[in-house]
This record gives sequence, structure tokens and C-alpha cells, in this order.
Amino acid sequence: MSNLVVVGSQWGDEGKGRIVDLISNEVDIIVRYQGGNNAGHTIVFDGKKVVLHHIPSGILREGKVSIIANGVVVDPKILIEEMEGLRSSGYHIGPDNFKLSNRAHVIMPYHRKIDLEREKLKGNTKIGTTGRGIGPVYEDKYARRGIKLSDLTKPEHFRKRLGEILNERNIYITKVLESEPLDADEIYEEYLEYGKYLEPYITDSSRLLNQYIGEGKSVLFEGAQGTLLDIDFGTYPFVTSSNAVSGGVTVGSGVSPMIIDHIVGVVKAYTTRVGEGPFPSEEYGDLENKLREEGSEFGATTGRSRRCGWLDIVALNYSVMVNGLTSLALTKLDVLSNFETIKLCTSYKYKGKTIDYFPSDLETLENCVPVYEEFEGWNCDICDITDFNDLPEQAINYINKIEEYTGVPVWLISVGPSREKIIEKTKLKIN
Ligand code: GDP
Ligand code: IMO
Ligand code: MG
Repeated sequence: MSNLVVVGSQWGDEGKGRIVDLISNEVDIIVRYQGGNNAGHTIVFDGKKVVLHHIPSGILREGKVSIIANGVVVDPKILIEEMEGLRSSGYHIGPDNFKLSNRAHVIMPYHRKIDLEREKLKGNTKIGTTGRGIGPVYEDKYARRGIKLSDLTKPEHFRKRLGEILNERNIYITKVLESEPLDADEIYEEYLEYGKYLEPYITDSSRLLNQYIGEGKSVLFEGAQGTLLDIDFGTYPFVTSSNAVSGGVTVGSGVSPMIIDHIVGVVKAYTTRVGEGPFPSEEYGDLENKLREEGSEFGATTGRSRRCGWLDIVALNYSVMVNGLTSLALTKLDVLSNFETIKLCTSYKYKGKTIDYFPSDLETLENCVPVYEEFEGWNCDICDITDFNDLPEQAINYINKIEEYTGVPVWLISVGPSREKIIEKTKLKIN
């Protein structure tokens, strides 16, 4: 049985949710290993649309176990709403098919407050976060003043720890951010209730996962965000605060790197980005608007307009390298169907010199000018095509070029948001 990782190869929103939903059918366990409810993963099927922020996209498939592992940060209120929402839509979600790591850190009200207040204070230099408290909760984890899910189930211990932490955080909130302090008793009462609700799901998920793997079950690790938003390898400081890359799987879920068989990079056929930060192949004006309209590029979490541009091979090759991608899932190819010309950024010009690698410092990246190779568009609807060879030759040419430039085989190609709009180009032996 194989274990796979699905990672975003760009700045998030590549279509990871829909690819995970598809592959989930072939595996036993689906695991989220990093990020929190900054993620918005969309799955469309049978005319329905489900957007998941916390829960792995495999939850919609019967007979699978979904795990939120230790590397994820959990907003319990949002998680419970998501669980209840799924239940009321008829999905089964119980302690038998849904597990939460006792080590996962909890997003507290002060994390959301600090996130929002800081962004306000920064003004023009803001990151453009989702405002979900992601930076502050990971900060607290590393500062060793975090609250874990297991803490919510131990009332006395939780009250004491919350009191100590909030004393310190309130000084920061009032003196530095010049905002109102939060009340420990109120938070305690509210979060204790969340703890009671979630207790049946909370477990040592690393132990459980290793047990499953030992039994020969196959696991799919679902990445959130994308490589270029990774805290170490992204366009720092315009990044999220977790390791979205494939390496995040091991520390984020407590498994050995030796168990991973395939690493699938989800790549949008063009590029989008939400929030601030460099984006070399960004388009402006009519082209940007056209890409946004054709691709419905509005955020699944915050509803913000996504910035749009062409596919960037330099950035993609960087993603291939840091993740060790073994195959690609190319999404939203149908969105390019009405373009006379399609462009692919194949290198950058920096101070007159050609660069074919993704610069590690922001100043260089910000001054990189994209160099494009142009392709003839196919100008016809491809959304009902299910066989690679039935695609127009211009589309085949575009895909083959992506394979050629990256050296990574394209496994899946999606041509519409719903489940069945998929082409399997190369066979991947999962089981
Ligand atoms: P994720 O965060 O990577 O899971 O991606 P999002 O769900 O945030 O954004 C991807 C968006 O593209 C969603 O609205 C999907 O329904 C949609 N989508 C996914 N694949 C395709 C596709 O092949 N074609 C089109 N037109 N839309 C797609
Ligand atoms: P999925 O999993 C796209 C972006 C935010 C912001 C930066 C930091 O749906 O692909 P944060 O709230 O994490 O501190 O924000 O990261 N961002 C995402 N962009 N897709 C996501 O998730 C994102 N999660 C965070 O817009 O620029
Ligand atoms: Mg998303």
C-alpha cells in the first residue's frame, strides 16, 4: 500500500481539496499535517459544493479515517461548526472516522485579535493574512506558551495555564497594540465546552497513524497553503507560519520520512496569489481580470480577489526541488480555453542577467522580470474531455512543455471543478 503527499506547488488555492477528494477514494487514511482554518479547500460533486477549512478533504468519502495531526492549529469553534455543518448535510463524522491530535495547538481569541490588530498597525506593510490568528498561534507554540487540544480536557490545569499565558498576552495587547485586554474566565468557560465536545475525538494521532501504517493501510497527507507560502521556503515574510512543503509531513504528523512513496504537486495551469508579496508573473488590467473571471478566482476563506498571472516554471521547478515532487496534478486547464495566447514564464531577468532559479531573497525576487515563452491557445471547450489524447493539440503541447521543463510527469489534469472533470495522463500505481 502506498502513502502519498499532496502539496500546493504555488501560493495556495491550486485545487488541493479537489485532488485530495479524488485520491481519497484509493486510500484508507487522510491526514492534515499543518496550517489551520486559513485553508479553504473546495470540493464540487453531484451539483454540491463543500468548502473545508479544518477537516481533511477525505471526510466526504465513506469508510475512510480523517486525522488532524499535531502540526495543525485548531480553532475549536470553527472546527465544531464545520463538523456540525457536515453532519447536517448527511455526512457521518464520529470518533470512529475522525481523529484529532492531542498535541495540536489551539487558536485562542487572543491569537485572532493579535493577528488583526497587527495587520491594522502595519498599514501598507501588512502581510494580508486571513486574520485567523495563524501567525500568533504558531508563535506561541514556539515560545512554549501554547495551549494544546489535550489541555482543554483538563479543567484545573487549563484554567491555570490560560491565566498565566493571558496575563502575559494581555500586557502585549494593551501596551503594544493599545487594544482592550481579554477576560480569562470568559475564555475558560467557552473553551472548556469545546474541550468537552471534542474530547471523544482527541487522541495520540502519531501513535495511531504509525499503527495504521504498520497494518499496511495507505495514507494520504493533505497539504494546506503552498510551497511559496511556506515559512522557510516561501517568499518570507509574505508567507504563512507553517511548513507547507512535503517535509512538513513528518514533523507535522509524527511519521518517518521513509514511509512516503509519492509526492504529488498540485499546480494551477496559471498562477494566483492572495495577500501581499512578490509575484513575478503577475498580470494587471484586462488579462488579470480575464483570468480572475474565467477561473472564478475569489478566496474560499476570505472571499478576497486573488491576484492572477501566468504559470511560472522557475517557481514550479523550485517547488519540484524543495518538495521532491514525483508527479504533478495540473488543475484548471479549462480556464485557459478562451485565450488566444498562453504564456509560460521560463526564466527571469535580473539586472539584465538571465536567472533560471527562484531567488531566496525578497529584494532580488521583487526585481525579477519574467521572460515568457508564448503558446497558441486552443480556443475551444475542453471541460467534457476525459482522455488525454482527445485534448486539442495546443493543450497537449502546453502540458508536454510543462513536463519537459520540470522533468516531472503529469499524473492528473483537471478540466472543471467537479469530481468527474478529470483526465488521468499517466497511471500512478497507488495500491
Ligand atoms: P485549494 O485551497 O488548493 O483546495 O483550492 P481552493 O478550493 O481554494 O481553490 C480552487 C478553486 O478552483 C475552487 O473553487 C475549485 O472548485 C476550483 N477548481 C478546482 N479544479 C478546477 C478545474 O479544473 N477547473 C475549474 N474551472 N475550477 C476548478
Ligand atoms: P489553501 O490551503 C491561499 C495566505 C494569506 C496571506 C498569507 C499569510 O486554501 O491553499 P495567514 O493567515 O496564513 O497568516 O496568511 O498566506 N494564505 C493563503 N493563500 N490559500 C491558502 O490556503 C492560504 N492560507 C494562507 O492570504 O497572504
Ligand atoms: Mg484554498
